[in-house]
Amino acid sequence: MKRILIVWIFGWGIPAAGEPTLATLGKKIFFDTSLSNPPGQGCISCHSPQAAFSDPRRVSPGAVEGRMGRRNAPSLMYAALIPPQRLEDTYDENGELEYIVEGGLFLDGRAHDLLDQVRHPFFDRNDMNIADAAELAGKLRKADYGEEFKKLDDGKGNEQAFEALVAFLREPVFRPFNARIDEYWAGNKDALTLSERRGLDVFQTSGGCATCHLTGAASWLEPLLTDSGFDNLGAPSVGAIDPGLGAVTAKKGELGQFKVPSLRNVALTAPYLHNGTIGTLKEVMEFYNKRDLEPERWGVTDYPETVNHEDMGDLGLTDQEVDDLVALMEAFTDRNLLELKEGEVLPKVPAGVPSTEERKAFFKSKRRHDLTSPRRQEE
Ligand code: HEC
Ligand code: HEC
Repeated sequence: MKRILIVWIFGWGIPAAGEPTLATLGKKIFFDTSLSNPPGQGCISCHSPQAAFSDPRRVSPGAVEGRMGRRNAPSLMYAALIPPQRLEDTYDENGELEYIVEGGLFLDGRAHDLLDQVRHPFFDRNDMNIADAAELAGKLRKADYGEEFKKLDDGKGNEQAFEALVAFLREPVFRPFNARIDEYWAGNKDALTLSERRGLDVFQTSGGCATCHLTGAASWLEPLLTDSGFDNLGAPSVGAIDPGLGAVTAKKGELGQFKVPSLRNVALTAPYLHNGTIGTLKEVMEFYNKRDLEPERWGVTDYPETVNHEDMGDLGLTDQEVDDLVALMEAFTDRNLLELKEGEVLPKVPAGVPSTEERKAFFKSKRRHDLTSPRRQEE
């Protein structure tokens, strides 16, 4: 009797194979390139599995010929694990209490959380360029998966499509934690080469990388290699000036700041920085190490007044240490992505990755704060 009950509890809510779920519906929308205006573009067009779901092009062309955004499309691996926007209390250099922004989606943090984010590409004129909610709803209903909407909850309309994309991006395939660094942290010291182990040492000590690209558990059980904060690295200028977080918060000191990205799978996501101006990891490391000593090499930056000179720009690392850091970052690549074959659309899910249901406590959204209020605080 007891055993039957357990089976019933676990079995309940899990749809039979072939039944639509929010996540399977989200997968279909993600790969659908017929929704855009004109048709031909979908999420998959700018978030390629071969590039850890980022875009190898510096900026992505939009559905409308000639239109494009100004930022490099980031990886969607672990994107669902980025915490919602929040204010963190900290002390500035004068010992004054201040509240800084952490979390939120997009490189300037303008979306509160993932559910807020996924609706934007549909309507952005530089992305899928759909005119309005009614046009999207009409297209979704006509799609070959249109019936699945009805089966799940017909009344929800577009909102259901957004929830489906969130459910898909939360799937284990986007959070396998099966890079060599994870094996190393799990106790297999041979998982890293000697050079990579030296790199990890620099990463956590003299390089100072781990103060922002955290190597410990923070908002998630496993290290995400980010603190979800924002900073201005002084990326080389290109085209129009990009105000970053400062435009979202209306704070001068935050102009030119961009989100600290997770470094998971970073070896697959070139080009680098929010505007894709640096082509290789080796060059990114040379930039961190000697930016302030070689201004002519890197040129002007959009907001010199907010550039971080404390943590980067003149690190004094040797050529060997730079090479070791680059080597280390290769060990941040998930095995299931390395095993992805040309033309395959989704990597395999390694055994043992917890389901979204098992991780639901971590996926809770948080309340919104007024980031632009003059006396910003956690209310
Ligand atoms: C035309 C190319 C393009 C298309 C189409 C596109 N994206 Fe993106 N995506 C981008 C770019 C560029 C950014 C970074 C923009 C920014 O930060 O302002 C981005 C950012 C994101 C982010 C935020 C990641 C982070 O680290 O904050 C998510 C999530 C995302 N896209 C999901 C999607 C989904 C889901 C779709 C389909 C509905 C989609 N994208 C369609 C180019 C695209
Ligand atoms: C003070 C915080 C901070 C420190 C310390 C720091 N980073 Fe970063 N890192 C960032 C931010 C912010 C960005 C994104 C900048 C942008 O897009 O303009 C970034 C971007 C990167 C990128 C490019 C990733 C991408 O997808 O474009 C790499 C690689 C990187 N960091 C590695 C390192 C390494 C290695 C170190 C140590 C030598 C380090 N970082 C130290 C904040 C930091």
